[in-house]
Amino acid sequence: MKCILTGLGGRGLHWLKAMKARDDVEVAAFVEPFEGSITRAVEQHGVPRERIFPSLDEALSSTQADFVLDVTPPAVHHEVALKAFAAGLHVLGEKPLSDNFETAKMVAEAGARAGLKHMITQNYRFGAQPRTSRKVLGEGLIGAPGQCDVRFYMPWADFPDTPGTHYVTQPFMLINDMMVHHFDLMRYVLDQNPVTVQAITWNQPWGWHAGDACHAIVFEYASGLRSTHVCVGCAVGSQTSWNGDWRIEGPGGSLDWDQAGTWYSHLHRAELKVNRRAVEHLSVKPQEVAMVDEFFAAIREDREPECSARDNLESLRMVFGAIASARSHRKVELNSV
Ligand SMILES: NC(=O)c1ccc[n+]([C@@H]2O[C@H](COP(=O)([O-])OP(=O)(O)OC[C@H]3O[C@@H](n4cnc5c(N)ncnc54)[C@H](O)[C@@H]3O)[C@@H](O)[C@H]2O)c1
Repeated sequence: MKCILTGLGGRGLHWLKAMKARDDVEVAAFVEPFEGSITRAVEQHGVPRERIFPSLDEALSSTQADFVLDVTPPAVHHEVALKAFAAGLHVLGEKPLSDNFETAKMVAEAGARAGLKHMITQNYRFGAQPRTSRKVLGEGLIGAPGQCDVRFYMPWADFPDTPGTHYVTQPFMLINDMMVHHFDLMRYVLDQNPVTVQAITWNQPWGWHAGDACHAIVFEYASGLRSTHVCVGCAVGSQTSWNGDWRIEGPGGSLDWDQAGTWYSHLHRAELKVNRRAVEHLSVKPQEVAMVDEFFAAIREDREPECSARDNLESLRMVFGAIASARSHRKVELNSV
């Protein structure tokens, strides 16, 4: 398969390395308008300068390709996808699908109308903890979950060398750019979509984000389940992992994640008390390998990929619902977003 890689920023270079490690992909062309990113890609990562085009139009007119791997900033994703679809190319696009929900819906529809595969790289859900947790919850390890609490404390988007990036200048970027991973994880692990959201967001005086980087968010589900997300995105003390620390509570016990592992406990009124018994993780492929394998399989089998743009709208609904709630200081019905 031949691809055009758009965006040679930090994540684009990460993807370049992942694609070079495969023997079934050739990166036939690159698109990058910013000289600083071009120079770094050429001098430090061996990208041939003559294969880098300043626009996708120019790359498309001189390159035969099967798909576009889009690693541009969120505000650009729809432009790239629409141009790729118009040229008959599938799209593997970085999250978030868009920084605007109406645009996200429009672009997901455009891909479906064109009959092309459009997959969003929600890589977190391909990790061992989410895959294992979804499986053991589905097998009934703790019964039907009633509450899921996620805590996230990390110095998110701390890039002192590139102070003007969208991560630190745009409003609600932590929820838009990072929480889309955790909200997608909630949907995946709990295997249901929430129906309401209530969010309060704020900032710390020592933080480096223009947009709010701290929050407390509650989602309600039709089953009666509630999930909470509490976060400091400018944490300077102890840290969780990027997955966050999780506790899922059910009538038959709890499932916890932390950096050390995944744990099952059942202490209260249990015939056999279990305290933090390690849950053996499923063996999983590296995330980029798993995602590209899934994307290629969907093309080969002509089916919707996991994390299709259509499915991803439900994760984005949680993002934009939480932002709407934070702005309005009210609970938001997610089907109104
Ligand atoms: N899945 C993950 O874990 C993960 C991690 C980091 C970033 N990301 C995502 O990857 C994307 C890129 O992030 P980044 O950190 O590399 O951002 P970045 O700002 O470092 O790089 C983006 C690059 O895209 C270039 N660009 C801008 N407009 C373009 C256009 N029209 N065509 C081609 N290139 C263009 C910029 O000049 C820049 O070099 C974002 O959507 C981000 O959310 C995902």
